[in-house]
Amino acid sequence: MTEVSNWQPGSWRNFEARQLPSYPDTAALAEAEQLLGTYPPLVFAGEARQLREDLAEVAGGKAFLLQGGDCAESFAEFHPNNIRDTFRVLLQMAVILTFGSKMPVVKVGRMAGQFAKPRSADMEEQGGQSLPSYRGDIVNDITFEEGGRKPNPERMLRAYMQAAATLNLLRALAQGGYANLHQVHRWNLDFVGQSAGEKYREVASRIGDALDFMAACGVDPDSVPQLHGTDFYTSHEALLLGYEQAMTRQDSLTGKWYDTSAHLLWIGDRTRFSGSAHVEFLRGVGNPVAMKCGPSLEPDDLIRLIDTLNPDNDPGRLTLISRFGHDKVEEGLSKLVRRVKAEGRSVVWSCDPMHGNTIKSGSGFKTRPFERILSEVSSFFAVHRAEGTHAGGIHCEMTGQNVTECTGGAAAITDETLADRYHTHCDPRLNASQSIELAFLLAENIRTELEKDERAAAAA
Ligand code: PEP
Ligand code: CO
Repeated sequence: MTEVSNWQPGSWRNFEARQLPSYPDTAALAEAEQLLGTYPPLVFAGEARQLREDLAEVAGGKAFLLQGGDCAESFAEFHPNNIRDTFRVLLQMAVILTFGSKMPVVKVGRMAGQFAKPRSADMEEQGGQSLPSYRGDIVNDITFEEGGRKPNPERMLRAYMQAAATLNLLRALAQGGYANLHQVHRWNLDFVGQSAGEKYREVASRIGDALDFMAACGVDPDSVPQLHGTDFYTSHEALLLGYEQAMTRQDSLTGKWYDTSAHLLWIGDRTRFSGSAHVEFLRGVGNPVAMKCGPSLEPDDLIRLIDTLNPDNDPGRLTLISRFGHDKVEEGLSKLVRRVKAEGRSVVWSCDPMHGNTIKSGSGFKTRPFERILSEVSSFFAVHRAEGTHAGGIHCEMTGQNVTECTGGAAAITDETLADRYHTHCDPRLNASQSIELAFLLAENIRTELEKDERAAAAA
């Protein structure tokens, strides 16, 4: 990577910054940011570089990316069981996807720092009162109440502490034996033992056969460290730029700047316009970065953004996360993929089937129908197949808890049952069984396509 010119951790302040809170107490803000700048980094530059290498494999069509977790982490839901359960479901999904794609799966959590939220309006009205919108626990309180809705910089320090503790647990879970492949497979067997999972028994038993065969050959978690633990990375939307700037440090090894708040940072669909402070900030850090691509993004603008974010065309540096909606993805994504391919740009293409499929249910809840999520993912695969590019990954809002926020799936959550366990602080998430089901359905899809390719190759 060549030197990034005219960039400093604070150069974003000269650009147009949308979606940032206006803090009433600017002195307190400066103090909190200054203090945060003295706190230890949460991740190391070397780890971010390792993720970049892993993502380069995805860009080259040799691996698959699985990114998932909360829409918004919250102070209220901070509990070891929540962290463990989301991590466990991600591992379960990863094993199923590894089997389906016959490729390594790069695992990235929307965890340990996913606090700040962009909102469609600055103010929220309720019963004649107008208060600042909730922007995530790192900024203000979700309760509609004047004091709590005031952006409070001290929340950044609490969010940092929570991210540090979460990451500490994730590191222990990933390397301390919990992520043992045989154990993860047993959880999948538990899932297919339940009625929601019954129809995936066949895939699970083929994974079991593969593991038994490997064990018979002496390949098991005792002999091979990769089966005993796993690499797990963190990510969040780099939205609250003051926080991100304070976490940005110069790597002593390479002299380059890294945002040490997470391994991967992304730019949201509302802040990726040209001239954006968010684009300016992320262009200068050495981490792998991602950008959401929605229906309003035109191919010319995308190429200009790629020029800015990945001028050296480094594989693994940039992930494009499409989020069109089930009925718009085919047309919208095809033209972006075609153009990026024609220009010879190396990117990871990932599919967020959540943010373009949010609707208001009859019962008044914000929800996402499982069939539409599935349909967007299928179209994503179809587009890449047609264009001859690699459908590289998926990006999900999900949780390991048994919530009722998205309708459908084998557990058949309906408009009427959404109220049972609707806990999200922002968007509706897939619950544990919907997430695992999505992975099984995807694996079946990928597997069928691979088998078709293999038959075609054998016949040729
Ligand atoms: C998100 O990922 O939580 C989000 C806000 O997505 P988008 O920027 O794609 O709307
Ligand atoms: Co969301």
